[in-house]
Amino acid sequence: MIEGELVRLRALERSDLPAVVRWMNDPEVTKYLLSAPLYGLEEMEQWYNDHRGSDDRLLAMLDERGEMVGYCGITRLEWEERRCNLWLIIGERNAWNHGYGTDTVRTMLRYLFEEVNLHRVYLTVDEENRRAIGVYERCGFRREGVGRSARFKNGRYRNDVTMAVLREEWNP
Ligand SMILES: CC(C)(COP(=O)(O)OP(=O)(O)OC[C@H]1O[C@@H](n2cnc3c(N)ncnc32)[C@H](O)[C@@H]1OP(=O)(O)O)[C@@H](O)C(=O)NCCC(=O)NCCS
Repeated sequence: MIEGELVRLRALERSDLPAVVRWMNDPEVTKYLLSAPLYGLEEMEQWYNDHRGSDDRLLAMLDERGEMVGYCGITRLEWEERRCNLWLIIGERNAWNHGYGTDTVRTMLRYLFEEVNLHRVYLTVDEENRRAIGVYERCGFRREGVGRSARFKNGRYRNDVTMAVLREEWNP
């Protein structure tokens, strides 16, 4: 369990997957996601098993009442370079704009820099996902570049922004 100011993060359990399936089939939630396969429960269990057999980490985000509002994780953990990719999804739409995303990113960065001893945390976000980019900038991420027309989604090509924060420039 990792404690933030608003959220608590714990390992994602198999029993959490029905909620994840519901969120991943909500077009409002998946609108800006780079990848949002229309998985059913069986495929989601396969995805979960694949992650468990790797260095990836999947975490459930709990609000102050202990309700799961979303999930987050790290992928591509590379020990030699001391870097990883961070992602998060708040699936309960009524939990948006309450500070949970910001608190989750801050909490994960503290954990990844101070406990795991990483040097660089990076991510990729749809250029039009203003709310997400605002959260990442508030937490210290800087834009590093744009992948022009990097993905085709909802009928057109979209730009992807790569962002990263280094440990020495991170200000908890
Ligand atoms: C994008 C996402 C992670 C952002 O998380 P969030 O919890 O909604 O964002 P926050 O509440 O931390 O910040 C958003 C706004 O709420 C405001 N806010 C922050 N703390 C707050 C609080 N305690 N109470 C009320 N509002 C607050 C922030 O100021 C911010 O406003 P601004 O950016 O207009 O200034 C979340 O909306 C989400 O998961 N969306 C769907 C999936 C997605 O896009 N994931 C990201 C893929 S890269």
